[in-house]
Amino acid sequence: MDRRDFLKQGVLASVGVGLGVSSLFAASCAGANDRIVLALVGSGGRGLSCIISCCKINKNVTIKTVCDVNSTKLAKAVAEVEKELGYRPGATDDMRAIFDDKDVDAVWVATPEHWHTLAAIWACQAGKDVYVEKNPSVNIFEGRKLVEAAKKYRRIVQIGFQNRSAPYGFTARDYIASGKLGKIVTVKCYNLLGGGKWIEAPETPVPSWLNWDKWLGPAPMRGFSSSIVDEHGRGGWLCYWAYGGGGLSDDASHVMDLCRLVIGDPGHPKSVYGWGGNHIFGGMRETPEFQSIVYDFGEYTLTCDNACATGYMTKTPNDIRYDKTKFPDWRNNATRTEIYGTEGLMFLGRHGGGWQVLGPKNEIVAQDGGVMPDNEHQINFIESLRSRKQPNGDVEECHRSATLVHLGNIAYRVGNKQLLFDPETEKFTNDDAANKLARGAYRKGYEVPENV
Ligand SMILES: NC(=O)c1ccc[n+]([C@@H]2O[C@H](COP(=O)([O-])OP(=O)(O)OC[C@H]3O[C@@H](n4cnc5c(N)ncnc54)[C@H](O)[C@@H]3O)[C@@H](O)[C@H]2O)c1
Repeated sequence: MDRRDFLKQGVLASVGVGLGVSSLFAASCAGANDRIVLALVGSGGRGLSCIISCCKINKNVTIKTVCDVNSTKLAKAVAEVEKELGYRPGATDDMRAIFDDKDVDAVWVATPEHWHTLAAIWACQAGKDVYVEKNPSVNIFEGRKLVEAAKKYRRIVQIGFQNRSAPYGFTARDYIASGKLGKIVTVKCYNLLGGGKWIEAPETPVPSWLNWDKWLGPAPMRGFSSSIVDEHGRGGWLCYWAYGGGGLSDDASHVMDLCRLVIGDPGHPKSVYGWGGNHIFGGMRETPEFQSIVYDFGEYTLTCDNACATGYMTKTPNDIRYDKTKFPDWRNNATRTEIYGTEGLMFLGRHGGGWQVLGPKNEIVAQDGGVMPDNEHQINFIESLRSRKQPNGDVEECHRSATLVHLGNIAYRVGNKQLLFDPETEKFTNDDAANKLARGAYRKGYEVPENV
């Protein structure tokens, strides 16, 4: 019996005993090698390369359909799948066709960020499992709704924070949990990247290769600018609050997510102070050129410095990020975390690079190497689909990591303020404007529902 027959039988049995909607979609424990059919929503560089890799490194996993609203990228994706995997997938510009397709087991969402949550919720509602890229949400409200949808429909939802599958992250976590670093004093996350002055190009008619209405989806309608979307590459959508959270959600989110895992996945902070601006280049970007954020976790602070103006800093170079025996020079490592305990200082890499602990004489007292864990995360997703065990990119923990991004950005957007945050209600207690941003707003027909 294959997985679909098994599922169908499970559904009929559930109906027979009168169980509710979540049970209808609760998938079976499928066999370890059962065929899994994937579909891709958003065939840019990231989604296409990851889904092809996932099919190569896992047995019996295929892509039935690719979906994109950019016809150039869609055609390229079909050709690329054929070249790499030896068959031609179907193509559509309407993700709903994928959700309606009973052959599809799981949907891979790699659109720009403003579509992540809604597409993932629609997929859950249709009974599909989901791999959804980071940052999983563009506001705190919708992040919580995705957690609720995953639970309600009993879906496997793997968030694309791949460092949660890094073996060196687990050994760093164990080292800190063992008490060898002492009590945590303070934690510093860095995402110090390069960039330049960003200016928006004037609006032009929508190009023939793009379905602009569908690209915008939940975001407000506006005129097309080539600064937002590029025919072949990514474009500048991360510079706009409507489509993403800037460098903080693009890269710093990974640094802070891995850091949270390593320090034991603390709950939400009690407050955030965020400062930022475009003081460096004076560009037109909405998401700022530089941000400095302090999160209050009660017994220690976590800070994050995020820049697109410090190009002399380097992401962990390729010869180190894929070699477990090498460590970066932490001094100019752009995406490092420093965890200061009472007994030592841990440096932690985000693009592989592993971790090292320095003692009082600047000597290395412990270390573990590590490489970029994309493969591990893709393998973990497929194993979870088959075992029905929750994946490493746990939707609740990743929502908490994503919330750090939203807190920092909201504190900046309401005027570089300190905001008090109630971890239970996920609301601010001292700023109504901040709560409005945490809730977000949606274009008609694309609302993230209060009741998923
Ligand atoms: N986990 C990581 O390390 C990592 C690395 C790179 C990118 N990402 C994330 O992956 C996502 C994609 O990144 P990218 O660089 O490929 O961006 P991209 O903008 O090049 O690709 C996104 C694609 O989604 C398509 N799209 C937009 N609206 C759509 C819709 N309604 N239906 C179908 N397709 C739609 C776009 O046309 C585009 O082709 C982003 O959210 C990014 O943050 C994650």
